[in-house]
Amino acid sequence: MIKVTGLEFTYPDGITALADISIDLSFDDDEHITAIVGPSGSGKTTLLQCLARFKTPGQGSIEIDGTPAISMSEAQFRSKVGVVFQNLNLFPHLNVLDNLTLAPVEVAGMDKKDAERQAMAMLERVGVGNLARSYPSQLSGGQAQRVAIARSLVLKPDYLLLDEPTSALDINTTNALAELLEDLHGSTNFIIVTHDIPFVRKVAKRAVLIQGGRVVSHDRVEEVMRLFLQ
Ligand SMILES: Nc1ncnc2c1ncn2[C@@H]1O[C@H](COP(=O)(O)OP(=O)(O)OP(=O)(O)O)[C@@H](O)[C@H]1O
Ligand SMILES: [Mg+2]
Repeated sequence: MIKVTGLEFTYPDGITALADISIDLSFDDDEHITAIVGPSGSGKTTLLQCLARFKTPGQGSIEIDGTPAISMSEAQFRSKVGVVFQNLNLFPHLNVLDNLTLAPVEVAGMDKKDAERQAMAMLERVGVGNLARSYPSQLSGGQAQRVAIARSLVLKPDYLLLDEPTSALDINTTNALAELLEDLHGSTNFIIVTHDIPFVRKVAKRAVLIQGGRVVSHDRVEEVMRLFLQ
């Protein structure tokens, strides 16, 4: 479970993006995906950045499976929580395979050959095994999205945060991503920020509605949509 208590975040220019967020994000055998929705500017990306430890909240705390996030070492934290932001952040000078082996080899100290075997298996699993030797600039948006997700998954996080994963995808690629996330049931739990309501309805059972940096609802998807779309 990810437990967020009294989270507050204000940007240096004085804009308070997160006013007071308290929420328990728990997952079980039937529910491995939670969506976070809300109007533009409501604080969704800022919340993900705090959950990923890329921003330090002004107040409040985040616990990952009972351990305060701030007390975890970088390696310990990254083995629990992965994140794929909208710009994907693939390393442009490395091919796809090397993008996937860099952290396991350099950070986790994995043997290079083992890391390559694991990376190939993950690329196959997300359907882009044929692209291992391609460079990020040679990939389509959907292919790059899969590579970025695979790169996070090789670190075997318990939670994977995705920010607007379908924003650059057409309907077929979006449906393929939905299937991929469903297939990954049992591998990891997903927290997905998105404006794509049909996608939310397809993949998530529970959702969180954020408005003005506060949680307005955390409920079954249809309940949350009723509030959001009214
Ligand atoms: N780098 C920044 N500096 C100052 N203010 C920022 C910065 N990034 C975001 N904000 C402000 O913080 C608030 C929340 O922004 P955030 O990006 O978290 O919203 P969001 O819900 O992800 O929006 P969207 O749906 O448009 O992606 C907004 O008022 C925004 O203007
Ligand atoms: Mg955003």
